[in-house]
Amino acid sequence: MGDLDVPLEQEMGKEEPVCDPESMGSEDMLFMLYTSGSTGTPKGLVHTQAGYLLYAAVTHKLVFDHQPGDVFGCVADIGWITGHSYVVYGPLCNGATSVLFESTPVYPDAGRYWETVQRLRINQFYGAPTAVRLLLKYGDSWVKKYDRSSLRTLGSVGEPINHEAWEWLHKVVGDSRCTVVDTWWQTETGGICIAPRPSEEGAEILPGMAMRPFFGIIPVLMDEKGNIVEGGNVSGALCLSQAWPGMARTIYGDHQRFVNAYFKAYPGYYFTGDGAHRTKGGYYQITGRMDDVINISGHRLGTAEIEDAMADHPAVPESAVIGYPHDIKGEAAFAFIVLKDNAGDADVVVKELKAAVASKIAKYAVPNEILVVKRLPKTRSGKVMRRLLRKIILGGDLGDTTTLEDPSIITEILSAYQKHRGKQAASK
Ligand code: WT7
Repeated sequence: MGDLDVPLEQEMGKEEPVCDPESMGSEDMLFMLYTSGSTGTPKGLVHTQAGYLLYAAVTHKLVFDHQPGDVFGCVADIGWITGHSYVVYGPLCNGATSVLFESTPVYPDAGRYWETVQRLRINQFYGAPTAVRLLLKYGDSWVKKYDRSSLRTLGSVGEPINHEAWEWLHKVVGDSRCTVVDTWWQTETGGICIAPRPSEEGAEILPGMAMRPFFGIIPVLMDEKGNIVEGGNVSGALCLSQAWPGMARTIYGDHQRFVNAYFKAYPGYYFTGDGAHRTKGGYYQITGRMDDVINISGHRLGTAEIEDAMADHPAVPESAVIGYPHDIKGEAAFAFIVLKDNAGDADVVVKELKAAVASKIAKYAVPNEILVVKRLPKTRSGKVMRRLLRKIILGGDLGDTTTLEDPSIITEILSAYQKHRGKQAASK
């Protein structure tokens, strides 16, 4: 045993086995959690005592139809908001038995979730679409091997759930018998804001849709000019028009940033950063982020964070990162980089960039693809036109390019991209 090691038992022996409760003010801080935005460093969002706890508890009870005696199984990491609200605070406020899951969905094998459901008789299972997409590729037998008759509600969180994953959850995992709830919310909202409410008898539920606002949540859709879009079969920027108990109160140490990030775009409304579609029936479907935030395997990342992690490389003066759809991860990052003339071997630089992102942020943030270009497309005011880069990757109409400083860059980047695709196809 080295100088720095101390026996756990010895240290624990010094502590009191009980901890006296402390009275707190309803607006005192309960915790703060960092999350990514479209610019700058991550934001430390502050949640407070009373409102957050109430909101976590009520949403836990009603969205999942949690009844006394039920075993609630949220497989999210407790270090994130999903784990805070639906492993710890919500279930414990309701006196529920809450499962602590510490593994990956495929360790030791692809039956891990369902073996856990059988062993602990889990009634509500709550997880991420990215795991569902991964598991469905392993086949149904890993699910069918285990008894899932205890399950009543299957929840999905963190990113849009595609139809295939939704149907698989419903038919294979839930034997077409369980209620599937696609729940939309954010670190900022503290708890679920849009979701079908299974505790309401006979409520209609459509695949891949978060459906209906929770009690106290009033969503509105805004057009580009900041006007409210009324009616059905319409899309717009998703805003919430009145305060709710679970909303974050500030960004730690920078209240002005909180105001700017959430309340400036549409004065008088909380802007979520997401776009949404409202059906004729009045149901909401989340269409994805409208800002430069991407979602890789349920991890929220600002593209600016990945760019910052690469910016320290001496050979890379500029980069632009964008998200594009990926089969399993939901989204993946694609980086366009500019190299200095004396940069040396581009392949070496690309490897170093990947290592830099992995060590400064995390492995999941490493761009799937990195493409070297001579320059980035910029508007006359000097802003990188990410929309154009996205269109180049996704194909289709490039949209309005009249604000480009130099329109000839389109063919320049397109040909670099096509060469890159060709090279990749050849290497497969
Ligand atoms: C962003 C929030 C929800 C807690 C865990 C993630 C996306 C979240 C859904 C959903 C489509 C969703 C949004 C949102 N998102 N749930 N059901 N359907 N998109 O919290 O890390 O703060 O990320 O995740 O884009 O803004 P977060």
